[in-house]
Amino acid sequence: MGKDVIIACDFPSKEKVMSFLDLFTDEKPFVKIGMELFYGAGPEIVREIKARGHKIFLDLKLHDIPNTVKSAMAVLSGLDVDMTNLHASGTVRMMEAAIEGLTRADGTRPILIAVTQLTSTDQEAMENDLLIKEPIDKVVMHYAANAAKAGLDGVVCSPLEAGKVHDTCGKDFVTVTPGVRFADGDIGDQKRVMTPAEAKKIGSDYIVVGRPITGATDPVAAYRRCVAEFVD
Ligand code: C5P
Repeated sequence: MGKDVIIACDFPSKEKVMSFLDLFTDEKPFVKIGMELFYGAGPEIVREIKARGHKIFLDLKLHDIPNTVKSAMAVLSGLDVDMTNLHASGTVRMMEAAIEGLTRADGTRPILIAVTQLTSTDQEAMENDLLIKEPIDKVVMHYAANAAKAGLDGVVCSPLEAGKVHDTCGKDFVTVTPGVRFADGDIGDQKRVMTPAEAKKIGSDYIVVGRPITGATDPVAAYRRCVAEFVD
């Protein structure tokens, strides 16, 4: 799988995302569409951005009974997204059903990756709220291994975990890593960050970058800087 920079298009409306994408005249970045934009603008937003020539990571993090996830994934596959995701905590059977739903008649399908534990969940919340008593690193690697076992392509993880995920699940198992910041940039609310160059060194396959690009004075220059550090 090729290394790429995915721009997190966390905008509240179609108008805002389209005027942002209008800035890119020479390149067609891979874009991440999350719940806010998808639920607000509807599936049509995916078709429109796709029609402009962008690859799309649809970040909806599905988690339901296997049959429902399978049917929902069939719909997302029909939207022709390039990457989508689910929660590994939905079980191996749910992940297998997701792949069945996602696979098109010709055998192709979008890349499917799993969320292991959300980075907003810490050890304390995991133990007290979810009654999971194992160390969080072990839980993350176990969920990643479950995703691999179900036939998924990879996981979303911190760039700091990408090396260990590759050690556990193989070097071809894809790591998609948010929490990326420029060395001279604001880290905002992200706690554990890496630069694009560091993420490349540690073996991330895709970096997801939001505000360092969307909030930059010159978003195209910021995107190019990410590509220069991470891909080239
Ligand atoms: O603006 P920023 O670069 O922090 O955006 C990162 C993107 O990655 C956001 O869309 C955020 O929701 C997402 N994300 C994250 N950390 C995770 C999972 C997803 O920052 N653990």
